[in-house]
Amino acid sequence: MNNWIDFGLVRDFAAEKTEAYRLCTKPDAWVERYGPDALVSYKTEAALEQILHELDEWTLLANQKFERVFGRYLPRQNSERNAPQLISGDASAPLQRNVLERDVCYALDFGAGYSAGLFLDQRENRQFVRRIAPRRLLNCFAYTCSFSVMAALAGGETLSVDLSRKSLNRGRDNFILNKLATDRHRFLVGDVLTVLPRLARKGERFDAIILDPPTFSRSHTGKAWQVEHDFEKLLLAALEVAERDAKILLSTNCTRLTERALEVMGRFCLKATRRAASFPPPVALPDFPPGEGARSLWMILR
Ligand SMILES: C[S@@+](CC[C@H](N)C(=O)[O-])C[C@H]1O[C@@H](n2cnc3c(N)ncnc32)[C@H](O)[C@@H]1O
Repeated sequence: MNNWIDFGLVRDFAAEKTEAYRLCTKPDAWVERYGPDALVSYKTEAALEQILHELDEWTLLANQKFERVFGRYLPRQNSERNAPQLISGDASAPLQRNVLERDVCYALDFGAGYSAGLFLDQRENRQFVRRIAPRRLLNCFAYTCSFSVMAALAGGETLSVDLSRKSLNRGRDNFILNKLATDRHRFLVGDVLTVLPRLARKGERFDAIILDPPTFSRSHTGKAWQVEHDFEKLLLAALEVAERDAKILLSTNCTRLTERALEVMGRFCLKATRRAASFPPPVALPDFPPGEGARSLWMILR
């Protein structure tokens, strides 16, 4: 079936204990699997109808079964974003469930808001964090702390920063789910752009830093964040707390910022701070067509 994941890849994911992945990507809709649940994201009712029909066909052909199907409308404006709605399945079943990604457990909540708790397009970046095993990871815009969990599993200390206390509490739950003691890990509620200079003044340094900001947000003090406008300022502040050989993830969902634009911005900030780095080519996600999902780039300082 066109645009649908092939059955070999489904078997590969199962073999590595990954239960959350993209099943299908079309111009106006896509489907993601979260264990026994499917989430359909759609731009138009016609696209929803068509992809639901294909989902039925695919589940039959692939010999898979979904307990529930949720639908989530993709609005043009962030202010119109809503939590997914149940399309089929048991309405009395809990909206919370856990899923595995490479045998690491994450808690999801389909009732918590627009996003359920795990961004699938960051899977390879999470794996990169586990592979480099940082001693001290700074996770900016941490959300449910999935990057911090990976660093902690690799033996590092972590600091997770987010404006949302609720998200950080969910992050703490993800640590507990993976049997990680939280005493070597900090969860800080605050605006990243205020926190970074404070950390620099205190002399804190990190050998891995995650910069995966939203496209637009507003802090509790009313300060607006706009990724195209503010990413450079953010990276310059992050470089102040980066160890000499730190690895920094630059990532964004903003379609106007390409990987090339991230690299140009990265090189500009390196020049301004008289530092040097390499930019390894990003690892492709097998379940996302090229150009879909977040654009990300690792900056390896040297
Ligand atoms: C795109 S999500 C980050 C996803 C995360 N990197 C992951 O892979 O799970 C954006 C997060 O940034 C947080 N946020 C938005 N503006 C912020 C700011 N100025 N300072 C700190 N956190 C902020 C939001 O609360 C949200 O949790």
